[in-house]
Amino acid sequence: MSIDIVLRGLGRYVPEKTLTNAALEKIVDTSDEWIFTRTGIRVRHIASEEQNTSDLAVEAARQALANANMEAEELTHIVVGTFTPDAMVPSCACVVEEKLGIKGRAVYDIAAACSGFLYALENARAILALHPEARVLVIGAETVTRRINFEDRTTCVLFGDGAGAAVLTRDGEGPKVLDVKLSSDGSLGRLLTVNGGGSCSSYSRPGEPIREDYFVQMEGREIFKHAVRSMTGVCNEILEDNGRTRHDIDVLIPHQANWRIIDAVGRKFDVPPEKVYSNVDRYGNTSAASIPLALSEAVDNDFVKDGDLVLLTSFGGGFTWASALLQF
Ligand code: ACO
Repeated sequence: MSIDIVLRGLGRYVPEKTLTNAALEKIVDTSDEWIFTRTGIRVRHIASEEQNTSDLAVEAARQALANANMEAEELTHIVVGTFTPDAMVPSCACVVEEKLGIKGRAVYDIAAACSGFLYALENARAILALHPEARVLVIGAETVTRRINFEDRTTCVLFGDGAGAAVLTRDGEGPKVLDVKLSSDGSLGRLLTVNGGGSCSSYSRPGEPIREDYFVQMEGREIFKHAVRSMTGVCNEILEDNGRTRHDIDVLIPHQANWRIIDAVGRKFDVPPEKVYSNVDRYGNTSAASIPLALSEAVDNDFVKDGDLVLLTSFGGGFTWASALLQF
């Protein structure tokens, strides 16, 4: 069943504190030159000690609600894509609900790592298919740096913290979400893991050192290959299913993991670099926040204009991957 849903408002938030490549050079054996040429990243934002994922999420949510000209009271559902919730229990969505000053809604988190926002978006479509009167807040929010080992140069240079949000309804004015495609391959899950805190990884007793599996661990080269292949595949699928071709794409927004991945996806679709949005230089990889952060910024910068067909695509741990087609 295919329904059009309306993107009523977008919002985003990144913490004030930043971490430049030059600052990372003082922490691990790396260089601005290595980081920039391999990833395109110059700086990333880091949550302060007082900020949790829900705090970032709420800032983005308030902006999305303001842009939608709606009050939190009007929301019926909150779906948060994150792999770095404030706690295992309660869910990040419950904390966000409380901080927005509402209760009694259907709220929950979705675990799809970097694809979390697009998985949550598809969930919003399902909610709106069942409940046409619903007003759904979808958020991608992460404090990835809380799960980064700042002694591991292969991961600590890549990630940053942030949040992005969208309010979705069936009625009203705004860009249309035409379709969303989701996919996954659990057999590749071992290539990107955060095991600590899960049932497969027994707890550390007080006083014991934090084990490495508490942090993001990954096989960078393998991820790179799969990311390009999977995002290309799921973009082809959504274009084909919607009777469009690569020539119809006005703006491409891939997951902001690494400029070389973003560029490679653009090349596969012959989308010229001036139509591919990237802010990875300023935020690094913010996981589930990456797509809504980039989309919200691209709209505010007039990179996305009225009438544009926008293709979003993401890839993340699990492995999970997804695409979405938006008509502005
Ligand atoms: N600074 C300096 N040297 C480094 C650093 C660093 N920060 N990190 C690794 N190196 C070294 C390695 O130790 C290695 O040295 P060696 O040859 O002496 O062993 C050398 O650089 C090359 O390492 P590679 O891993 O082969 O480098 P590569 O060109 O593959 O780039 C990178 C690494 C940037 C991680 C790349 O593989 C990548 O971007 N992969 C995708 C990973 C990703 O985006 N993960 C995010 C989660 S999933 C997602 O969001 C899509």
